[in-house]
Amino acid sequence: MTNQTPATNEHPLDMIIFGGGGDLAARKLLPALYMAHTHCNLPADTRIFAIGRKDWTREDYLKNFMEQQSRSFIDAKAFDANSWDKFLALFDYVRVDVENPADFKRLAEAVRSGSQRVFYLSTSPELFTMICNNLDSAGIVDANSRVVLEKPLGHDLASARAINDDVGRHFKEEQIYRIDHYLGKETVQNLMVLRFGNAIFGPLWQAPYIKSVQITVSETVGVGSRAGFYDHTGALRDMVQNHLLQLLCIVAMEPPVSLDPDAVRDEKLKVLKSLRPMSVADIARDTVRGQYTTGAVGGEAVKGYLEEANVPADSRVETFVALRAHINNWRWANVPFFLRTGKRLQNRRSEIVIDFADLPFSIIPDGPRHYGNRLTITLQPEESIQLQMMAKEPGSGMYMQPVTLNLDLQQAMQQRRAEAYERLLIDVIRGRLTHFMRRDELEAAWTWVEPILNGWKELGDKPRGYTAGTFGPATLSALMARENLAWAKEN
Ligand code: BG6
Repeated sequence: MTNQTPATNEHPLDMIIFGGGGDLAARKLLPALYMAHTHCNLPADTRIFAIGRKDWTREDYLKNFMEQQSRSFIDAKAFDANSWDKFLALFDYVRVDVENPADFKRLAEAVRSGSQRVFYLSTSPELFTMICNNLDSAGIVDANSRVVLEKPLGHDLASARAINDDVGRHFKEEQIYRIDHYLGKETVQNLMVLRFGNAIFGPLWQAPYIKSVQITVSETVGVGSRAGFYDHTGALRDMVQNHLLQLLCIVAMEPPVSLDPDAVRDEKLKVLKSLRPMSVADIARDTVRGQYTTGAVGGEAVKGYLEEANVPADSRVETFVALRAHINNWRWANVPFFLRTGKRLQNRRSEIVIDFADLPFSIIPDGPRHYGNRLTITLQPEESIQLQMMAKEPGSGMYMQPVTLNLDLQQAMQQRRAEAYERLLIDVIRGRLTHFMRRDELEAAWTWVEPILNGWKELGDKPRGYTAGTFGPATLSALMARENLAWAKEN
């Protein structure tokens, strides 16, 4: 690491995107940067260097990639030709073979001296070490540089540690932005405001006032063209280890002393460390693995996972996982957390459901007493917060009916909502680490997840088939029914 004077935010920004010709860049990063540019959230004098292996000129990149592959991912209503032209003008393309140090010398000549550098590593994590070594040897990592690491960060605890060690040789922890795009979602950030900006929830946000918590991320998409990656990953690594556990942390953490990155991350870490380790018997009882089979989603026939391109015919990789987790601390003693996520399910829906405890005693003799208060925080497709309450049914008699207090956030606040990547990229540029994972958090998440992977292996567990377009394997409901509980809306 060279020791230059740290640049301030007024210094020109050089954003260097490894994987600049990749799928994530096309779908998410470039559209997010375009929106940030259009809304004047990129520093003046920004330059963006797309790094790829293809032997392209700058013009080839603008035409073949930005125009033809990325532009269509920008919301048509937000697109402005003039702004797009100015955006294109920020770009350069540098062909780099990451194994070739000489290519990094060329990159070093392209970036500006004294600039604030952000290296975005949107490549396979196996390349992170080599990229960081070569960047540093080329003399372009300084005390002011930042590096963004895309998930998946490792395949297990050992590989995650190795990546963290290697990257940590070149960048200090406060220079490292481990991205989990769920932390950039508006409603996820809003969950912190809901919990810590409203006094009424504080006293109730714990056992025994909460009976159970459900976290669902259900997708309608299949594996698409990502089988090469997905078939070595599966739903537990792809979604639970990061996105779902991060959501669980935000639901379960103690109030941090402030919104400072370490204050928030210290509290999330405590939750991850309090997750009750699962024994093989727990894994057999409290996890459900599934794999989609041929079916129909949204009225369209779709292939089963095993028929998808590049998936081995005998693959045992799970495309669905549900499990029951427990947090061993005072606040959450005996409150089950049910997590589920899967591909090719009936609906695209991400939500957190908090079920409050039953009435200790009911003086109202009529009506369905089993309805409790339920807080539902929907992250997507729409953003809303709903609180189910009991109210008297009009008329004579004392009948209760559940009614819903419905906070439609889009309606209540009509400002533009930035996509998660846009918000997180702006955070990186402004040096705000609160919504990024710290090394110890990531490793604590792997520490809890890895025994589940091993347990499945030990049990010789084969994922159960579920028809595409349904809610998942039939055994899913048993996971909750055993405790006299049921999944919300059964989705
Ligand atoms: C990614 C996973 O991290 O998140 C994908 O790798 C998944 O498999 C995606 O489809 C879901 O993100 P979102 O924002 O569409 O819910």
